[in-house]
Amino acid sequence: MNIDYGWRGPGDFRRWGPYLSFGNSAATEMRVSWQSKFHSMTQWIQYGETKDCPLRCDEDVFPTCMHSFSLTSLKPNTRYYYRISRPEDLQVEPQPVYSFMTGPPDGSPVPFEFSIAGDIHASGGNARALFTSIRTNAPKAHFVVTAGDCVDHGGHEERWNEFFWELVPFSSEFILMNATGNHDTDHAETYAHFINTFHHPYVNPKKGAYYHFIYGNAVFIVLDSTNAGQTAATQGVVSDEQMEWLEKVLNLYALKDYWIFLFMHHPMYTTGDTGMMDIYELAYRDLFDNHHVDGVFFGHDHHFEVFWVGKDQPWGGTHYCLVGNGGGNLGLFNMDPKLQPKPPNYLWKGRTYIYERDGLLGGNVEKGIRNDAIVTSSHVYGIMEYGFTHFVINGDQCEMRMWGLQNQLYFHDAFNRTGHGKSFHKPLHRQEF
Ligand SMILES: [Fe+2]
Ligand SMILES: [Fe+2]
Repeated sequence: MNIDYGWRGPGDFRRWGPYLSFGNSAATEMRVSWQSKFHSMTQWIQYGETKDCPLRCDEDVFPTCMHSFSLTSLKPNTRYYYRISRPEDLQVEPQPVYSFMTGPPDGSPVPFEFSIAGDIHASGGNARALFTSIRTNAPKAHFVVTAGDCVDHGGHEERWNEFFWELVPFSSEFILMNATGNHDTDHAETYAHFINTFHHPYVNPKKGAYYHFIYGNAVFIVLDSTNAGQTAATQGVVSDEQMEWLEKVLNLYALKDYWIFLFMHHPMYTTGDTGMMDIYELAYRDLFDNHHVDGVFFGHDHHFEVFWVGKDQPWGGTHYCLVGNGGGNLGLFNMDPKLQPKPPNYLWKGRTYIYERDGLLGGNVEKGIRNDAIVTSSHVYGIMEYGFTHFVINGDQCEMRMWGLQNQLYFHDAFNRTGHGKSFHKPLHRQEF
């Protein structure tokens, strides 16, 4: 694929960006970041509600290539224009004017849309193909949450270059919120690179890239299952600090009756290559059940799969969604055991797996890797296709769709919530190919 890496003429000091992210509140805070080609002392951003960008925010830092401005006290539901610059450019040529929208007031039940893209592993144009599909099939998506593994190797600068260059047509207007993946942050050095690239409202970045943000009547909780680059030591289970913080946030927003969506890279439930380690269920399940978490999203395995756990509970249960089908090579081990040295955990018959249709699928019966009880009680749908997952939230209603790169609608589900927790689902509207 020929990739247009965007406007990088003589007056362009950028290497990447600009790119956008929310602060703790999508309504009032926006962060604008970019990387410059060379270290520089002073750069600034102009912004405002009109295209002449009358307000200005200066940066006063040590020489750096990574520039990031937090614009605060913004008005909800408002379009802002912005322009990044540095003193020399006043003599070269004016920089382009971009724009973004702030989110609705915190707690407001207005309709909104967002998308999730896991395991993009940007390479050879796949990130651009994915975001092109988002723009085409979900043009109202205000923001995108990535579920880790945006790149193959977080320590290789060229991999991040590729990620951001592929996002050139999108990053100045899409808001990106990110979770760490093992490929992004497999040790302390790559973790440092990650948090210097994605300036999210981290609680304690020394312990991990965990944070939350509010959008309308939903709270988005992002865990760092690499624990600040220590994945191997922790097997992807978050530290005590994160668990204690998570419980506080869940307590707060369950009481406020928000939608609760939670993201982490390592999967709790999957019939893919990683398997289902008991330790995840032991660590999280009671907490999520007790706080009526609505959706938990993870990647790491490279396919799409949905488990509806606790559907018999009065509060409606939790959707656990594996969304690792954003671009990294699909987990074909499930379909062809010859591709890996040991038998797969579950052996898919084809590119889809549906427990109701297929029953329990054979494979490795190693204890602690399979969780047949969850599959039997909760499996909804699995497919080996690239794509992204899109959500339309309208008050207490949620619609979820998984779109492919060639605009195929692979999966469609709808569920409601009433009071403290969801009601039982409306019938599923699955489209199976
Ligand atoms: Fe991955
Ligand atoms: Fe991963």
